[in-house]
Amino acid sequence: MKITYHGHSCIQIHTGDRSLVIDPFLSGNGLAVAKPQDIHTNAVLLTHAHNDHIADAEPIAKNNSAPVVATYELAQYMSWKGVGTIWLNPGGNLDLQFVKVKMIPAIHSSGIVDEERQQIMYGGIAGGFIVQAEGLTILHAGDTALFDDMRSIGEQFHIDVAFLPIGDQLTMGPRDAAVAAERFGAKLVVPIHYNTFPAITQDPDAFVQLLAEKGIAGKVMSPGEELTLS
Ligand code: NI
Ligand code: MN
Repeated sequence: MKITYHGHSCIQIHTGDRSLVIDPFLSGNGLAVAKPQDIHTNAVLLTHAHNDHIADAEPIAKNNSAPVVATYELAQYMSWKGVGTIWLNPGGNLDLQFVKVKMIPAIHSSGIVDEERQQIMYGGIAGGFIVQAEGLTILHAGDTALFDDMRSIGEQFHIDVAFLPIGDQLTMGPRDAAVAAERFGAKLVVPIHYNTFPAITQDPDAFVQLLAEKGIAGKVMSPGEELTLS
C-alpha cells in the first residue's frame, strides 16, 4: 500500500493498481503540488461539505468516472453536479471491492456556503473514514474535535496510520490531537489540516515531539510525499 499526501486534508490511498482519494482540495491550496487533472483514482471520499474538503471532487470524479462517497445530503448535492455517488453516513460500511470503508463520527460542522447568494446549504453531518486493504487499517479523522468515543474506535480497529487534524480553531489543535492519537491507539500518526491558511498555522514538528513524549510515532509529510506500508 502506498499513501500520497496531497496537502491540507487530502490523501490518496493506493492498493494494487487502484486508489481512492479523500477530501480533494488542490486548486485552491497554494501548498499543493498536484493539480486536479493529475489525480487518477477509482473513488472520491468526502468527510464533510466544507469547501476545503470538496473543492476538486467534481472535476476529479468526472475525469476518472469515479463515484463520490459521502453522507446522504452531500452525495445528493454532488449528484446535482453530474457525478455518480454512493451514500455513506457515520456507522455505515462500504465494500468498494479494492478497499473496505467505514464512516466514523466526527464532531464538526458541515455546510455548503454560497457566497454569491449569501446562503448556506445543509451538508449532512461531518465524519471520518476507516479504510482497510492488504491487512492494513488507515484512519482519516476528517475535521473534528476531540471526543471520548475515539477510544472505542481504537479498541475495534488496529489502526496502522492515523491522519489527524492539528490546525486548531476549526478542529483539534496539537494538544487535543495528541490525546486523540492515544485514544485511537494508532501505530503512526500524520498531522493534517494545518498551515494551509493563516488561521490554522501550526508547527507539525512540535506536534510530532508531543507524540514522542507519549511514546507514539509521528511523521510529518510534505504535499506530494508518499508513504509506503507493508
Ligand atoms: Ni471543515
Ligand atoms: Mn476543514
